[in-house]
Amino acid sequence: MTPKKSLVVDCDTGIDDALALLYLLHDPDVDIRAVTTVFGNTDAATAADNTLKVLELVGRQDIPVAVGALTNWRGTFYPAPDVHGDDGMGNTSLLPAPATTPTAEPAAELIVRLARENPGELHLLATGPLTNLATALLLDPELPGLIEHVTVMGGAIHHPGNVTPAAEANIYNDPEAARLVFQAPWEVTLVPLDVTMTEVLTEELATRLREHGSPVTTFAAAILEHYLGFYERDVFGIRSAACHDPLAAAIAVGDIPVVLAPTVAIDVETGDGPARGMTVADTRGQYRNFPSQEGAHVRVVLRTEGTFPDRLTARLCEASAPVPAATGGPAC
Ligand code: RIB
Ligand code: CA
Repeated sequence: MTPKKSLVVDCDTGIDDALALLYLLHDPDVDIRAVTTVFGNTDAATAADNTLKVLELVGRQDIPVAVGALTNWRGTFYPAPDVHGDDGMGNTSLLPAPATTPTAEPAAELIVRLARENPGELHLLATGPLTNLATALLLDPELPGLIEHVTVMGGAIHHPGNVTPAAEANIYNDPEAARLVFQAPWEVTLVPLDVTMTEVLTEELATRLREHGSPVTTFAAAILEHYLGFYERDVFGIRSAACHDPLAAAIAVGDIPVVLAPTVAIDVETGDGPARGMTVADTRGQYRNFPSQEGAHVRVVLRTEGTFPDRLTARLCEASAPVPAATGGPAC
């Protein structure tokens, strides 16, 4: 029997983080050991609340949820109610208040403790600002040697930023933390906008989820409403939305092939000019099949097949039976 992949998911649970969690929760080969939350799409406490609601929706209240950083190290954070709603869940109020509560243990301490208890086993998946991971690195400088791999959704390599012309939201929210995480001596896979903007959730997929009619797909379709509205209005001009965090989740657990993913040196701009939060990757080797770069340890995903959102939709439909009232509805 293949051993399960042990994951700690560090997220700012907004809409696409919630979809990423649902995708992973329906993978029998994945063991989510804990979810830690960080400021970002919403505040860290609301992100924890949203996470608990999602876990309870699928009966996984056994998974611990820990609250982490409330702001970056400068004391700021930029929530995204236009993208994720005031509650981070597209203003849906669909799920009941959680019966469970977050752990007393803060996120960074929990990450360090789990890494110490399970040396070499844990995969960290970060789908929000990197403040919790950076704090954990400061708490325990030996952490990189204890972690199996780190996958980060964030950055923009050859693609424009999404909060400034140069910067992607997760990195912009805490560039100093991101820099520390990319510099630490662990293996990182970075899933930037270059690929997450090419894997799009369409209105047709949202309709499939809605018509399937199970509690999980009904919830997924409901939160997608707000997200599709933002992307239609401000980004694509049509009802399609980027599949950022679910794509990073799928890549973390090796579910989808990556077409182009060189391992390159990467740095983050931390100055206060217009490039603050920019991810600067050394991709100059692109015409020579990316010859190896000494000391480089960040694998940057630059191309995927573009078919993942269909797979995400199918996974959510297959894993959750329709509620009785929806029997006879179309199968996904
Ligand atoms: O830029 C996209 C990222 O920012 C996603 O992780 C989204 O959830 C937000 O955190
Ligand atoms: Ca996120």
